[in-house]
Amino acid sequence: MAFRKDFLWGGATAANQCEGGYNLDGRGLANVDLAPLGEKRMGVITGQDKMFEFVDGEIYPAKEAIDMYHHYEEDISLFAEMGFKTYRMSIAWSRIFPRGDESEPNEAGLEFYEKIFKECKKYGIEPLVTITHFDCPMYLVEKYGAWRSRELVGFYENLCNVIFNRYKGLVKYWLTFNEINMILHAPFMGAGLYFAPEDNQDQVKYQAAHHELVASAIATKIAHEVDPEMKVGCMLAAGAYYPYSPKPEDVFESRQKDRESYFFIDVQSRGEYPAYALKELERKGIEIKMEDGDLELLRENTVDFVSFSYYSSRVATTDEELLAKTEGNIFASVANPYLKASEWGWQIDPMGLRITLNDIYDRYQKPLFIVENGLGAKDTPNENGYVVDDYRIDYLSQHIQAMKDAVELDGVDLMGYTTWGCIDLVSAGTGQMSKRYGFIYVDKDDEGNGTLKRSKKKSFDWYKKVIATNGEDLTNN
Ligand code: BG6
Repeated sequence: MAFRKDFLWGGATAANQCEGGYNLDGRGLANVDLAPLGEKRMGVITGQDKMFEFVDGEIYPAKEAIDMYHHYEEDISLFAEMGFKTYRMSIAWSRIFPRGDESEPNEAGLEFYEKIFKECKKYGIEPLVTITHFDCPMYLVEKYGAWRSRELVGFYENLCNVIFNRYKGLVKYWLTFNEINMILHAPFMGAGLYFAPEDNQDQVKYQAAHHELVASAIATKIAHEVDPEMKVGCMLAAGAYYPYSPKPEDVFESRQKDRESYFFIDVQSRGEYPAYALKELERKGIEIKMEDGDLELLRENTVDFVSFSYYSSRVATTDEELLAKTEGNIFASVANPYLKASEWGWQIDPMGLRITLNDIYDRYQKPLFIVENGLGAKDTPNENGYVVDDYRIDYLSQHIQAMKDAVELDGVDLMGYTTWGCIDLVSAGTGQMSKRYGFIYVDKDDEGNGTLKRSKKKSFDWYKKVIATNGEDLTNN
């Protein structure tokens, strides 16, 4: 058998993309609430266009999302029916600290997550909790400039102290920051960063990244102190870069692009700013302000495991003409002529998952966890309301086969696999409901119409079988 007996099969979601209830029981407003559906979204999430309050006429999908706030019992029971061993979810910071800088938490927010964790435990599902999945309370954005301020480290530390103590015994696996490298690509969504015209954007991003890296090390330290059983992971938006051609310049460019992302994990997993990053920062004239003890903190509190999302490989080149023709959204890449792409232009590359697993394992030699993978596609229910999503089954089975090869043939140490959006939810990149990833269909359209009724797609029973056979039977029948 390729996978370990205790392999953590499951699915993943994020608070702002599924919970809704954005203003209920004391929850404060967060950056992610303010990203509208449609054309304006990209400008907002990349921090180029300011939108600090709701604007009439715009649709804000995170306000209601799929209303898991009121449906969590039903949703978790469906996950249990598929046989989930783990459920990856995130905590909305502003449910627990509505402003972010209070000293006392909001009890209603804490209770909400306690109920969710207990519900999971009822079915033997191990929660895997992302502390921040792109969210930052708007009060912290407006008053402190979010992660550009060092003070955020203290507020995050406070949050960690509260949740680790409160959920000790209920939650064992934690991730500090979802796709920490997203700060470079979508800084408002990733870290609440908004830019003024006079800002040196790289300087702001790398200073904010340093704050997050220190906060992540502090979280790891506290978790281990509160409960030595807790395991803390970092989380990378991964996907190996291939050189477009064997031209040495393209090969070197692909390494440089990989390093742009690995920089974060090098610090979180190896505990040091890597030499190539120090040189690059120096060349760009970026000076990172550190406090006494930061380097020691980073060195002494490295993560227990490395987790990542994988949707696609990417292609690097120095050819200007090719670069002008990039595809995809947040992670735009030159098209790989050997690959097909999804309806949203994301290139489909199962072998790339094996390559990425090997690259990351070679680099860190720590247990790995694939915490996001999946196909965003348009689903059309048939006359019985049933979605026959063979395309999703194809995508997932090929990726699971690739990860099996990485484990069985290459010896990669893999802890688990959680598919993205195991229940349909709001897309982070586009805000659409119609970009669906789930095994469970949710009746809601992009404009917000629909009953929110949940129903099983064909992939539901397929994934149930995959889990029951510990990944041995991937057939679609
Ligand atoms: C990852 C994020 O970037 O990809 C998720 O961690 C996101 O939040 C997922 O939903 C898929 O991207 P999208 O844009 O299709 O929702």
